[in-house]
Amino acid sequence: MRVTLRVIAGPQTGRAFTFDQHETFTIGRSEDSQFCLPHDRYFSRNHCLLEIAPPQTFLRDLGSTNGTFVNDLKVETAHLKNGDRIQGGETVLEVEVSVGANETLRYADGVPKFSETLPSLITVQCLNCGIPSNAEASRPDAKLSFLCDDCREKLRQNPQPIPNYQMIRILGKGGMGSVMLARSNKDGRVVAVKTLLPEVAVSEQSLKRFLREIEVAASLRHPHIVSYIEHGTHNGIVYLVTEYVGGMDASKFSKMRGGKLDYREVVIIIEQTLGALDFAHSHGFVHRDIKEQNILVDGTYPKYVAKLTDFGLAKSFKQTGMSGVTMVGDVAGTIAYMPPEQVRDFKEVKPPSDIYAIGMTAYSLVTGAHALDISPRAGISETVKAIFEKPIVPINQRLPEVPRRVAAVIETAIAKEPERRWRSAGQMREALLEAMR
Ligand SMILES: Nc1ncnc2c1ncn2[C@@H]1O[C@H](COP(=O)(O)OP(=O)(O)OP(=O)(O)O)[C@@H](O)[C@H]1O
Ligand SMILES: [Mg+2]
Repeated sequence: MRVTLRVIAGPQTGRAFTFDQHETFTIGRSEDSQFCLPHDRYFSRNHCLLEIAPPQTFLRDLGSTNGTFVNDLKVETAHLKNGDRIQGGETVLEVEVSVGANETLRYADGVPKFSETLPSLITVQCLNCGIPSNAEASRPDAKLSFLCDDCREKLRQNPQPIPNYQMIRILGKGGMGSVMLARSNKDGRVVAVKTLLPEVAVSEQSLKRFLREIEVAASLRHPHIVSYIEHGTHNGIVYLVTEYVGGMDASKFSKMRGGKLDYREVVIIIEQTLGALDFAHSHGFVHRDIKEQNILVDGTYPKYVAKLTDFGLAKSFKQTGMSGVTMVGDVAGTIAYMPPEQVRDFKEVKPPSDIYAIGMTAYSLVTGAHALDISPRAGISETVKAIFEKPIVPINQRLPEVPRRVAAVIETAIAKEPERRWRSAGQMREALLEAMR
């Protein structure tokens, strides 16, 4: 399925932007905006942000001076549907939701059976409770995997056992599902089982693509990457089995220690994680969701062993449409460590985004605060604006005792312009070790 934004009024009438996967799109006077209106004084520099996960589109005004209008009503946020009109000044964009050409059902002779472009509204049943709801699909006979909101929450709180594993206890709950400690019936080995719960109705095709992507990422074997054991689906729900890492994730670890760690400890953890990242990047993988919760730390100082988990999972979960739109609520946590280029365009997942996120992680672990000086309660608009416009607070301003050279390595990683960051995770790792000598 795809979403097209057509400019139907204003100086750029006739332009169209098409999206067929999870993407973001910004409108404003800033030259970095995908839809840039440099001479329209009506628009703010960063006016509004759209998140598109076809067939869904979600719009958020970024606190613009003159406001964003949908069908003539001023809005802060809006779920958009086919035919809706977004307006700012003289410019009007129309939303079109359609079925991609390669998704229409075809006769054997290649003639499309369904000529209409609108998606079909079909009935789907919750995998867990069976209660039916409606969902948009690319064809009327599509089979969709779907979990209703209630069951999704229930399963997140109370994960169901999966065959061949004995569940021991819940290790944690995250954005995509929950993680359990379990024992394998086959060899008695203790493992971590993660269930991945789709947030919207997903087609068999998307589910297959997601499983394929898990399988590809599973080939990454490195001493500082949590190793993959197996994956599968049970009652329609995807699960992933990985090695269990004792100790705790770096977020819990720093919380336990009062909110931050000594910079010497952070260097050990980050240096190892950079080794893992350098390895993955050189094999063509980006992590896309580096944060304290995804770095597991075992052992005692100075012999910590850090392991990066969830490799590429967030990327695949989003891009294959398992997540739907993610910036709907006001939980800014999901974008807190995202660099500007990635917020502007979710598709833009390249190694420099990981370098930025690991820099943000290191900054928080060392100082116990966010580099852009935003509170944990900041909303999405405020966070997006800070990511685009706000300078970072120098580490030494918060903590004079951190050696200047160490602080500089971290600060280089979180430059707003990707070209000013470290060229590779390997280079950053070298610089960090050098700064400690
Ligand atoms: N292999 C593992 N061994 C030990 N603990 C783990 C393992 N994987 C995850 N955990 C624990 O479970 C917690 C939840 O993991 P999960 O990945 O579901 O959530 P998250 O990292 O907070 O968010 P996200 O869903 O965005 O990744 C982790 O923060 C970690 O404490
Ligand atoms: Mg995680």
